[in-house]
Amino acid sequence: MPRDENTKPAQDSTMIRDRAGVSVSAGVRSLHPVYLDRALNAQAWDVDGTRYIDFIGGIGVLTVGHRNPVVMERVSAQCERFTHSCYNALPHEPYIAVTDWLAANCPIEGPAKSMLTNSGAEAMENALKLARAFTGRTGVIAFEGAFHGRTLATLALTGKTKPYKAGLGPLPGPVWHLPYPCPETGVSTDEAMDAIAKLFAVSADPASIGAVVIEPIQGEGGFRACDGEFIHALRQLCDENGMVLIADEIQSGFGRTGKMFAIEHAGVAPDILVMGKGIGGGFPLAAITGAEDVMNALAPGGLGGTYSGNPVACAAATGVFEVLETDGVLGRANQLGEKYATHIAWLRDLPGGHVIGRMRGIGAMRAFELIADDGKPSPKRLQTLLQLARNAGLLLMPSGEHANVVRLLAPLTIPFDQVDEAFAIIAKLLPKVAETQEP
Ligand SMILES: Cc1ncc(COP(=O)(O)O)c(C=O)c1O
Repeated sequence: MPRDENTKPAQDSTMIRDRAGVSVSAGVRSLHPVYLDRALNAQAWDVDGTRYIDFIGGIGVLTVGHRNPVVMERVSAQCERFTHSCYNALPHEPYIAVTDWLAANCPIEGPAKSMLTNSGAEAMENALKLARAFTGRTGVIAFEGAFHGRTLATLALTGKTKPYKAGLGPLPGPVWHLPYPCPETGVSTDEAMDAIAKLFAVSADPASIGAVVIEPIQGEGGFRACDGEFIHALRQLCDENGMVLIADEIQSGFGRTGKMFAIEHAGVAPDILVMGKGIGGGFPLAAITGAEDVMNALAPGGLGGTYSGNPVACAAATGVFEVLETDGVLGRANQLGEKYATHIAWLRDLPGGHVIGRMRGIGAMRAFELIADDGKPSPKRLQTLLQLARNAGLLLMPSGEHANVVRLLAPLTIPFDQVDEAFAIIAKLLPKVAETQEP
């Protein structure tokens, strides 16, 4: 996608960055000082004309790539008709096209109903409201290392203090954070269930808990996948105690793990499935889909919002659904996952390859750790890799408790030769990365 000289940006990245320093809040941090000019599938070009392979994909949003042609066609067609009405005032068919698809494709037991929102956090907020209304209880169980958003209620669920919660004072609650069982934490399913039993014995009556909120595979937490057995145990816990099981698939949904939703690997149906990111193909859309009685728990007018389920974003989602269903994207996610696994193993055998720690994740939702010479997490080596890779034309993103995990969030539609190219860049940088030492 060569640069079109006629539409050259008026300013270079240094000038734009200077303006950002003056007018953008310091709280809005950007990982890379790269100002995009244009992008297509897994490639992006910045305003200076530099080409990148994009392994961030808008933090897992661009499952079907930047400007997927099917998505763009649906968006253009919708823009020719109308761009907004506010569903709470004037309903529209694109909204129903999305809720129809969700009812047919989400792993919910019995008839499923949905509502649409603008962002993942807003979707999670509404899931919490419905759980409160349905159960009449306010307590929530969430997990250490979880990320559920940056609004006040979702921050309360997020299992990481800095930079998200520090200094904000009391958050809506009560929320009880318990250990997340997975290979990386070393906590077993039995130990995690024991922690829940201890919570009930010591601090919280189960009758006060309305919801259990879990990411079947943690995104921000570093692509840590819990065992299917644990999700089954939570399902049973919720059934026995009248709690609502909420699965946050905002990052893991829409094919990323090789199934449409990660919870399908466990074969468990949540009461509410929370979705975002990949659903909109780059347009702001998120959704919650759940069992009819839970989703109908609020009075008419209790759910909604001015822009929620905007028709252009809904049209984009119908394009995403079509691509996922017809282009073999789920199978491709599994192939991509295998390719990542082969490449990560290969990196370890190269000069400097001792900096590569364990691989994590399932399907194409893969990540690898950067470790120090003593095997401990090395956020410094990760920072070195991020910066050098960017200079070499590859955009990477960290995650994890120690910020030492590189999560691979390229579009599932990325051509395999661009995956090879990306890993060749990483391979070349390893000796330099290995020179970075933790203090
Ligand atoms: C698992 C998970 N939940 C919730 C959110 C919040 O979504 P949003 O940023 O769209 O509000 C995110 C965003 O990264 C996420 O990964």
